Order: sequence, then C-alpha cells, then structure tokens
Amino acid sequence: MTPVTSPPHGHAAAAGANGAPGADGLDPEAVSAFQAAFDTAVAADERIEPRDWMPDAYRSTLVRQIAQHAHSEIIGMQPEANWIARAPSLRRKAILMAKVQDEAGHGLYLYGAAETLGTSREELLDKLHAGRQKYSSIFNYPTLTWADVGAIGWLVDGAAITNQVPLCRCSYGPYARAMVRICKEESFHQRQGYELLLALTRGTEAQRAMAQDAVDRWWWPSLMMFGPPDDESAHSAQSMAWKIKRHSNDELRQRFVDICVPQAEALGLTLPDPDLRWNEERGHWDFGAIDWREFREVLKGNGPCNEQRLEQRRRAHENGAWVREAAAAHAAKQSARASQDGASRTARSEP
Ligand SMILES: [Fe+2]
Ligand SMILES: [Fe+2]
Repeated sequence: MTPVTSPPHGHAAAAGANGAPGADGLDPEAVSAFQAAFDTAVAADERIEPRDWMPDAYRSTLVRQIAQHAHSEIIGMQPEANWIARAPSLRRKAILMAKVQDEAGHGLYLYGAAETLGTSREELLDKLHAGRQKYSSIFNYPTLTWADVGAIGWLVDGAAITNQVPLCRCSYGPYARAMVRICKEESFHQRQGYELLLALTRGTEAQRAMAQDAVDRWWWPSLMMFGPPDDESAHSAQSMAWKIKRHSNDELRQRFVDICVPQAEALGLTLPDPDLRWNEERGHWDFGAIDWREFREVLKGNGPCNEQRLEQRRRAHENGAWVREAAAAHAAKQSARASQDGASRTARSEP
C-alpha cells in the first residue's frame, strides 16, 4: 500500500506538499496544513479518498469499524447457512442460498474497502481468528427453528439497514460506496424475512407459534445491535465529528423500534416488551430497558455460540487454503504470461 501522500482532493494548494512522505516525515507546519485541509473537506461533506492525507486516528477508527463490519458479514453467514439444507421448499432454499452468498459478497467489498486504508485482508482475518477483532454480537445466538431465518431477515437485516443507510454518506469514499450496494441487498434480505414470517403467521397455529417464538428470541438482541447507549459509547462523538457516523446509537435504535412496531402489527406478532407504548409527546414508541449485562457477556465471548462460530470460521479458512493457493498461482501465471506477451510485442514493434 502506498503511504498517504496528499491532502484531501481540491485542497492540495492549502498544504502545498503533494508527494511528501507520510505524516511521520512531515514537519509540524505541514501536518497542520494537511489537518486543516482534511477538516475543511469533512466540513464541506467531501469524500476522503485512499490517497488523501488523514489523521492516524481517523484511519485506525475506520479500519476497526470496517473490519468489524466485514467480519460480521462473513460470520453472519453461519447461523442461516445452518438452515439451507433444511429449507422447506426449493424456492425457500434458492432464496436463502442467494442471501447467504450476498453476505459473503458484502464481506468481500468491505475487506476491499479496509485494504484501501493500508491493511491486508490476511491481517484482518488473522485478527478475527485470534479473537483480537470483534464481529456483531448478534451472530452468537443460535438459529433453533426455520422461523429464525425469517426473524433474522426481518429484524437483524432490518437493524443492519437502519444502521447502514446513513453510512452511504460516510466521509470515507470507499466505505460509503461499498455501503450503497450493500444496503440495496440488505433491503432484499429484510423483505424476504418479513415475507417468510408472513407465510408462517398465515399458516397453521404451530407455524404461527414458531414465528412468535423466533421473534421473542431475536427482538432484544436486535436492539443491542445498535451498540451501547449514547452516554456509554466510547467512540461515538469522535466518529460523528469525522462524519463516519451520522446518527447516535440511541437515535438509530429508536428509528428501528418505530419502524418495527407497525410491521409486527401487520404480521400479527407481538414484540416481547410489555413497556412498548406510543408516546404522543415524543412522537415515538417508548420501549423497555435493554439488558446490557447480557450484551456485555456475549461481547466478552460468553454468548451461546461464540466458540462455535469462531471455530467454524477458522476451520473454513483452513479448508479454503488450497483455493487461495490455487488462485494466487493462477494469478501469478497470468501476469507472467501477460508480461511475456508484452515483452514480445515490444520486441516485434522495435525497428
Ligand atoms: Fe450483509
Ligand atoms: Fe443481510
């Protein structure tokens, strides 16, 4: 990865040091000019691009966030993949397979976005496998019945969209652009989950009960997906100032609850919260207290499936080693052939 060498686009004149070494090699005056150009670009809602100068903390915050997001996409394939072989019809199986493949694709775009910040995919995967980087705690819950596939689509992908739509306007260009396509696909995921639950709630009494049970188990963990309350969220304020984040955790959580309540009603399902009521004054749904102890425990690695998920991920990585080797060998052969062809073309065209 080339070190970052220029100020945010359109502000080169302000710093006047195009082609300078990274921030470490710059004198303090140049750094403050770069910083000023960066601040101006962020304030003007311009995108920061990979070759632009950026503060080290901005870069490391993005790497942490994008890596965690990428890991969540690929770990998130596991709970649902559990049901591919047991999908109740060919149609449901095809839909679920497409969805799980989409999640692999999301991981790919996001690892690609992280690579533009100077980290390699191998490094990030190593950290995930060593338990040094996190993924969303929601994927440490088990998928016990077929209805869980519906509840995940409706609630987990639904929460993901609520979180991710504002990221399409994130200040870092490659991340923002990856999110545009991801959000379109997440919206399909959310609809398929809703439609699956609708089919169950219109089915037999046992199917309706299965849908209700799944929603009972996934509702609270979905609310936890937005992260800790604003007053306990360590990174929120700085991320908002950098326009990586556009809304606070509590704001997004409220938005999600407001969206879900009428949808639950339309499904004929009850959200498992006795404190849920419309607050005329606020113009929002009030909801009960979240069990943050449970959230912290799952985050610490003590959720029902933490070990299983990581073990499965490590195994998949080891089993895929031969594919990576073959792909690398193929790429090396192709580029050797291309440079050989190029050399012989040059030789032919010489007088
Ligand atoms: Fe996804
Ligand atoms: Fe999804």
